[in-house]
Amino acid sequence: MNSLSSGLIVKLKEIVGENWVVQGEDLVAGYVLDETPPPIRPQPNLDVVVVKPNSSEEVSKVLKLANEYDTPVFPRGGGTGLVGGCIPTAPGIVLSLERMNRIVIDRDNLIAEAEAGATLRDLLNASDEAGLFFPPHPGDEGAQIGGLIACNAGGSRAIKTGVMRNYVRGLEVILPNGEILKLGGKLLKNNFGLDLMQLIIGSEGILAVITKAWIRLYPKFPATATLVIPFESRTVAVKAVPKILHAGILPLALEYVERIPIERSAERLGLKWPCKIGESFLIVILAEQSNEALYAQCERLLSLCEELNSLEPLLAESREEQENILKIRSEIYSSLKPDMVDILDATVPPASIGVFMDKVEEIAKRYNTYLPSYGHAADGNIHVHIMKEQGWSMEDYDRVRNEIYAAAVELGGTITGEHGIGYVRRKSVGKFLNPMYVRLMKEIKHIFDPKNILNPGKVLP
Ligand code: LAC
Ligand code: ZN
Repeated sequence: MNSLSSGLIVKLKEIVGENWVVQGEDLVAGYVLDETPPPIRPQPNLDVVVVKPNSSEEVSKVLKLANEYDTPVFPRGGGTGLVGGCIPTAPGIVLSLERMNRIVIDRDNLIAEAEAGATLRDLLNASDEAGLFFPPHPGDEGAQIGGLIACNAGGSRAIKTGVMRNYVRGLEVILPNGEILKLGGKLLKNNFGLDLMQLIIGSEGILAVITKAWIRLYPKFPATATLVIPFESRTVAVKAVPKILHAGILPLALEYVERIPIERSAERLGLKWPCKIGESFLIVILAEQSNEALYAQCERLLSLCEELNSLEPLLAESREEQENILKIRSEIYSSLKPDMVDILDATVPPASIGVFMDKVEEIAKRYNTYLPSYGHAADGNIHVHIMKEQGWSMEDYDRVRNEIYAAAVELGGTITGEHGIGYVRRKSVGKFLNPMYVRLMKEIKHIFDPKNILNPGKVLP
């Protein structure tokens, strides 16, 4: 069992029902980790109780109780984060929203009303059934709506359609004192007061628990094609990206991948990477409202390839081919993970991505290491991976990471464009964020959560 007061456990059971309070190290083990690479992942505290409410009122009561008992609460979605944001690092309550997974589609307003525990897959399916489309694809489809919003997830379709923040129109949140607050709604315009909703989006569970969201949907793109454009080297590939955008092509996704990691991912999935030539690739997903518009964009892109210094491009039109390419791309992280120390998501202004990757290559040479890279090239957000090296200490890895961060910041970038601060990036906050910015964040946290019970030990240094 655990050190939490038996009075607290009894009351939690009264709120959510006996079956939905989980105790015991073996049983809570599935609720204390996320996808952070193990070498940098914080040690989870197993002295926790997992609580699974079924309504906002129950969440509210749990938070009131946690206040009364001064007990930390760690809100948890699908556990797909990469910076330890949901890992309980102190004894307390892990608040899993998984039972709150209802979705209602309002076709007339083009809005999905989704509870926090619904998964991205649930949202994509519900939208599809209603003849609509949720444009961004912010990562793992097992991620839950609450977590996607709390982390302002990005993903590979941000270039054309934006990140989570651009789709959330309303939120229902529970404040750390248990109060239920509705922010915005089925509204496309709303200027009534400071935008607290946008403040909570991306706050990584330190300000409030998100229980429900109103999310904007769009008409479907009926015509899609995927092109894989091979290049001889990373430099040539990455430098082609701004030229594609400059030519007036706005793809749904414009991803950069390279041969070793992408073949490893394909092999792990029992698939084959379809491009036999080239070392580095751009995956371009085009999505348009009509076949005519699609072909026009395709032709424009193909005619540009010579100027981009690419090798012979490959066009995937069938749904299966397109899905396989995306699947292989999406699973690169999992295939590298066993040999990885850290996945970075430093982000630079899109036009600087070429210079940034040159710097990354120079750092790799200087440290005599391999930094496999792939990601959202058109967003200036390529994931550079620090891999395990024989004889390296944590300080050695830190040195490489800090050099990459410094290179990004020098170009006007940020150390995290996608995965957030969570636990593992906290030590970089003081180094790379303006002190006044940090002070304001701390003061805002204090206003929302004076007792520091909500996801303590995260985000703030
Ligand atoms: C990706 C995740 C790791 O882009 O952000 O695959
Ligand atoms: Zn990513």
